Amino acid sequence: MDKQRSSFTGKLGFIMAAAGSAVGLGNIWRFPYLAAQYGGGIFLLVYLVLAVTFGFALMTAEIAIGRKTGLSAIGAFKYLSKKWAFVGYLAAIVPIIILPYYSVIGGWVAKFFVAFVSGHGAEAADGTYFGDFITSVWEPIGWFSLFVGLTAVIVWFGVEKGIEKVSKIMMPVLVLLSVFIAIYALCMDGAIDGLLYYVVPDFDHFSVKTVLAAMGQLFYSMSLAMGIMITYGSYMKKEESIESSVRHIEIFDTGIAFLAGLMIIPSIFAVGDPDQLLSKGPGLMFIVLPQLFDKMAGGHIVGAAFFVMVLFAALTSSISLMETVVSVFMDKFKWSRKTTCAIVFAGCILLGLPSSLGNGVWSHITVMGFAFLDFFDFISNSVLMPVVALLTCVFVGYVLKPKSIADEVMASGHGFKSRTLFDIVIKYFAPVCIILILVTSVLDVLGIFKI
Ligand code: PHE
Repeated sequence: MDKQRSSFTGKLGFIMAAAGSAVGLGNIWRFPYLAAQYGGGIFLLVYLVLAVTFGFALMTAEIAIGRKTGLSAIGAFKYLSKKWAFVGYLAAIVPIIILPYYSVIGGWVAKFFVAFVSGHGAEAADGTYFGDFITSVWEPIGWFSLFVGLTAVIVWFGVEKGIEKVSKIMMPVLVLLSVFIAIYALCMDGAIDGLLYYVVPDFDHFSVKTVLAAMGQLFYSMSLAMGIMITYGSYMKKEESIESSVRHIEIFDTGIAFLAGLMIIPSIFAVGDPDQLLSKGPGLMFIVLPQLFDKMAGGHIVGAAFFVMVLFAALTSSISLMETVVSVFMDKFKWSRKTTCAIVFAGCILLGLPSSLGNGVWSHITVMGFAFLDFFDFISNSVLMPVVALLTCVFVGYVLKPKSIADEVMASGHGFKSRTLFDIVIKYFAPVCIILILVTSVLDVLGIFKI
């Protein structure tokens, strides 16, 4: 985004741009495997509760801070309070950690798209295909580099506008296609057990980890706690309603995640052994869906269409991630856009290599018990983002005061219907929850206290 504050053309433009950043691999790849792993229905329930409370309050606060100051994260915090400027810097680190491993997964999607287009979809349904692919050395690195390269070229030329247009078509098609795939999956034998697992909460599966995972996922999926929404808010016009935009983005983002789960979790029960697949983690989508497509008439076409759309959703998100990283470096070091793009590209490849190799030749190396990819995911989603979210809440709740956010929200003349909810969440509910969860999870990782 260039430094001049251009504005979005209107509310729809703003919602589409923010949704383009929000809807990505987080919804389609990450949400279903977490839901599968953390107890299905109970995870879904916790996620939904957090989305309408935490998600709403934090997104409102970030957009309002952006619009009020007209600056992106680092500048905005600095402008509001010198003492709190560090929160802006902390937020800026998050996309730097996420972008490389996000691109590794983006590479996997590209590989599967090409496999389906070139008529190798049936092979992808073979149980060992995915494993063989990610444990090899050069192939995943090649796809990952291609994905980073594509993202960098788009950020370099700044053709987001074109991407915006394409995603306006792709997104609705992705939704329709997902509905179709979900219905198909649900009609298969055994799928109903999967549906029940996914939508009926079982309180025996509840643990602090469920809340931690759901919270991390919420931040990730809605692109919160990393300054992105502050930047987007800075482009928003005064007369647009922040409150209703946030509600729209929230519904859109959560809707797509829910749909992805509806496609993947029942399929687990229909095509394979749930005991083995539910805890599959990051590979889940790549293992289960090809098997489903294999059973479908014309499944290779559906598969190719599905993966190309996921690729687009991933690209619109990785562009917003890289754009943020690039603008932080440009502001800081006064480099040109092209130089910065080239440096960020190289840095991203270097940082992403461990995440790619960690699935195969480097799988014996772990950091705090995690493979590299999971480690970066954990540090960003379960540590840094909750910390940034906590600091944002404390800052807004006690330093800036909720009133100044409310004034900004009401500046559009639309009122602020959920004002009380906002105040309670920002001042009490969110900080207390985040502290409890952070402390227990750190103790857990350090092995001091098992949850
Ligand atoms: N929200 C995106 C997703 O769900 C990921 C993302 C995070 C994109 C942060 C931009 C910034 O995939």
